Amino acid sequence: MRKPIIAGNWKMNNTIKQGESLVSDILGKDLSRDVEVVICVPFTFLDRASKLVTGTQIKLGAQNMHWEEKGAYTGEISPVMLNEIKVEYVIIGHSERRQYFNETDETVNKKIKSALTYNLTPIVCVGESLEERENGKYKELIESQVTKAFEGITKEDAVKTVIAYEPIWAIGTGKTASSEQAEEICALIRSILEKLYDADTSQKIRVLYGGSVKPDNIKELMNMENIDGALVGGASLKANDFVQLVNYKL
Ligand code: G3H
Repeated sequence: MRKPIIAGNWKMNNTIKQGESLVSDILGKDLSRDVEVVICVPFTFLDRASKLVTGTQIKLGAQNMHWEEKGAYTGEISPVMLNEIKVEYVIIGHSERRQYFNETDETVNKKIKSALTYNLTPIVCVGESLEERENGKYKELIESQVTKAFEGITKEDAVKTVIAYEPIWAIGTGKTASSEQAEEICALIRSILEKLYDADTSQKIRVLYGGSVKPDNIKELMNMENIDGALVGGASLKANDFVQLVNYKL
């Protein structure tokens, strides 16, 4: 049984003050115990957020990290620094980082390995652009992204990861992939994992969908066999919406 995850990715939103108020609004509501709840907040808010969520059901994630432990990497944050403030998850290879900040399959692979070394759960993002979807090459692209991301990673480590399928054309556009489209690729990801490892391993890894997930489409998505949760951008910035996503079963 794979425990569902609802992970909020705040992206570059919220000052510390705004973050405090959003976290306290979320914590003020009942959250389903059957769901793992994660918020991935900006670096500037991580330390404060860590104190606010300690002892609660909410787990904390970062939105990126460097693969090295320390050194001359101006502007970067290391896994050791994340460990120090009790961060448990880290988003790796989000399409916005691939698109705007030169993230490549190679750096994604290094970051996943490093996150696992430091006991952080990587949320590994893959997904195709509109052009790639329209030219019909998107399945090959997903296969290549997943294969390169997991290169050199043992199955014992692979089961500790989470994968998020995020079609770029559905991110922040209000244009959600239909639940069938999302399921098709999440199932494909599981079959790629089966090829890379084995059936048992592929059944243990949680695969999330991300891209305009909202309270009115979450149920349908979560009813799909291979969708184990959601990576949520916009709707994670509103306490009511985020809590409704967490409580999708209620
Ligand atoms: O990481 C989250 C995704 O990029 C989805 O963002 O829910 O605003 O479409 P969105």
